Amino acid sequence: MKKIFVVASICLMSLSVVAQPPQLTPNNIDKVIKAMTLEEKANLVVAAQRNDSKSAAGEIGFTRNIVPGAAGATYPIPRLGIPPIVMADGPAGLRIAAKREGDSRSYHCTGFPVGIHLASTWNSEIIYNVGAAIGQEVKEYGVDLLLAPGVNILRNPLCGRNFEYYSEDPLLAGKTAAAMINGVESNGVGTSLKHFAANNQEINRLANDSRVSLRALREIYLRNFEIAIKGSQPWTIMTSYNYINGRHASEDKGLLETILRQEWGFEGLVMTDWGGGYDSAGQIAAGNDLLSPGREAQCLEIIEAVRNGRLAEADLDRCVRRMLELIVRTPRFNGYKYSNKPDMESHAKLTREVASEGFVLLKNNNMALPLKERKVALFGANAYNFIAGGTGSGNVRRPYVIDLREGLLGNGFSLYEPLDAKYKKHIESEKQRLAPQLALRKWHQYVLRPTELQRPHLDILQAAQSDAEVAIVSIGRSSGEAFDRHIERDFMLCPDEEALLTAVSREFHKVGKKVVVILNICGPMEISSWRDKADAILICWLPGQEGGNSVADVVLGRTSPSGHLPMTFTHSYEDVRSASNFPRNVPENGFNQSLFNMYPTGKLYDVKNIDYTNYDEDIYVGYRDYATRKVDVAYPFGFGLTYSQFEISDMKVKECRDTYKVTCMVKNVGNFPAKQVVQLYSSEIAPEVDRPIIELRGYQKTKTLQAGESVEVEIIINRNDLMSYNEKAGAWKLTKGDYDLLLGFDSQTLSLKHRISITKEVLQPVSTAMTPANGEVFIKRE
Ligand code: BGC
Repeated sequence: MKKIFVVASICLMSLSVVAQPPQLTPNNIDKVIKAMTLEEKANLVVAAQRNDSKSAAGEIGFTRNIVPGAAGATYPIPRLGIPPIVMADGPAGLRIAAKREGDSRSYHCTGFPVGIHLASTWNSEIIYNVGAAIGQEVKEYGVDLLLAPGVNILRNPLCGRNFEYYSEDPLLAGKTAAAMINGVESNGVGTSLKHFAANNQEINRLANDSRVSLRALREIYLRNFEIAIKGSQPWTIMTSYNYINGRHASEDKGLLETILRQEWGFEGLVMTDWGGGYDSAGQIAAGNDLLSPGREAQCLEIIEAVRNGRLAEADLDRCVRRMLELIVRTPRFNGYKYSNKPDMESHAKLTREVASEGFVLLKNNNMALPLKERKVALFGANAYNFIAGGTGSGNVRRPYVIDLREGLLGNGFSLYEPLDAKYKKHIESEKQRLAPQLALRKWHQYVLRPTELQRPHLDILQAAQSDAEVAIVSIGRSSGEAFDRHIERDFMLCPDEEALLTAVSREFHKVGKKVVVILNICGPMEISSWRDKADAILICWLPGQEGGNSVADVVLGRTSPSGHLPMTFTHSYEDVRSASNFPRNVPENGFNQSLFNMYPTGKLYDVKNIDYTNYDEDIYVGYRDYATRKVDVAYPFGFGLTYSQFEISDMKVKECRDTYKVTCMVKNVGNFPAKQVVQLYSSEIAPEVDRPIIELRGYQKTKTLQAGESVEVEIIINRNDLMSYNEKAGAWKLTKGDYDLLLGFDSQTLSLKHRISITKEVLQPVSTAMTPANGEVFIKRE
């Protein structure tokens, strides 16, 4: 009897052991996948928002219950020990809700300078530090993955998201992104490099087809990602909404498996942009592992596709595996107890410091800056309503913004009071006027901003004749996700801004006082027509929450600006090579409102620049075009002044196996301590195919050099960096012949040159995945 009892209980015990499903650990991913049902697999690859789900008890508002205001979370499967992981934007700082219901604490995040601003520093070390600080906020606020950085090429100055991105040059963009990713991920949290790929306009972004040659893809629109990925191996990548040559980016296996994974060796996970793509099973089959933010219908479609054989379960398993591999790396899986108390104080200091390093000084006649004067007549509604960052998912809920007025007042300047009082009153009444419209504003809509003072002439006259010693005029531009910029009143000055600038310039110059213009802008503007009116022009971009203090530091001369343009400023919009191949003046809520496109069917329609966009400029993007066609520009790529002057000399090139070590001496020959950026370009002397006359190959920012101090700068490049993509051969090709290596402080003044010879041709075949599809059928819009 006793024996029978023992045997029975052993059986029961082993039964209960068998019934216990495996719990996820880094070492038993195979076992967990084996234990998963088809439904669980589908749930895991579709993120957890599910707000279309009827059965979703506990799932609605799911992310809200973990980290309110985060962009999403993945689907938990407690049975297998799989927790949800939390994803949140974005490129200029973490984006979560600042306030929580029934909780008096605040959850603000530091607003750092935006992408284009960080890229203007040309300083990977500083960008890494910003990344590390953002990553600490990600971790301490309980987020696992930051949905940033955005590395898309600044193809056209009107793209609404240019401010989030980095450069018109893929090397500068790619290296900036790699530094940012390495910084964020040094905290043990992940990033999502976005938006992969050729996503260069916002109008009709869900369904626009970017029609790009294979060569332009390889050399420009994929190259930025390739450099970033090889330099940082990010945890994840986010595919873009658009089509590329007739195939949806998130459904293109050639892009995601062949190029990204097989060729470049990407080891992480691929996720969609929010709501991106039309064919869920197709996305999974293409290697787009996670569909975000996730709808129940997507799960059902995946389950059905596996059941009817349209999707191989092995393909689904591959995505599931990548999901699990990602999850086991996260703080949430590893039980990290986050504090909800990131180091906001030191991050505020950091953002104040780094912002000035990215400010670009365009003009400084007779050393107008730094100011010797302390009494300022401050003009421009923007000075009282400074823009810290852009709108949309790239926005940050920052604790405060120091505007220009506060920055000047807090740092030893005084303002000409009658003017200040008038502006304060004007801004107050403008805020009241705009309040009802702003209250209805959706997160992705343009922020209406106060207009200029009406009829300011008398104020200007009085200010010029007062004891104010200098005029500062501030002009601002903001933009954001879901709309592109306009030419009139945006790329160009508004008529009242122009009138203000003209009158201030005339009256102040009449009495021998200087005029300084501070551009608080999200991207390029037309400057040539009015630049003569100013003695100094400083771009402070969208500088984050400490903006006013950072500007004050620079105009006071506590530090010299040392930013260089990551994108050319042309004389006019028409000079931009892609000008006619970009949407123009489409009203924000017009017929193709980009967030909710009218034809969400996955079909391609036929309106130029809306439904499809021809990248006719091919590889001639930005300076690659202007330098080759010899188009005169307002400010070339790489341009930026400091408060000092520099000389560059002693260029030497040492060939060592497959690399060139380029060195030179840089000397501060002015009177002010400052940093300088050495830029290295190459130029093939007699190319067998059309080629830009110069291409950026490397760069290095110096430390702060004191007056009279010199430093040796070294830039190492690989011989294969000189290759171009040869469409006929389906290969990267290094042709035999002579090449010049050129050094300078911007793309137009390359004063040092060294000629090298390539004696052996190199051919590096790559896949021709993404070849433009033949004879796509487009459907006429009714
Ligand atoms: C944007 C992404 C962002 C995502 C989540 C999308 O609308 O395009 O850049 O990461 O939303 O907020």
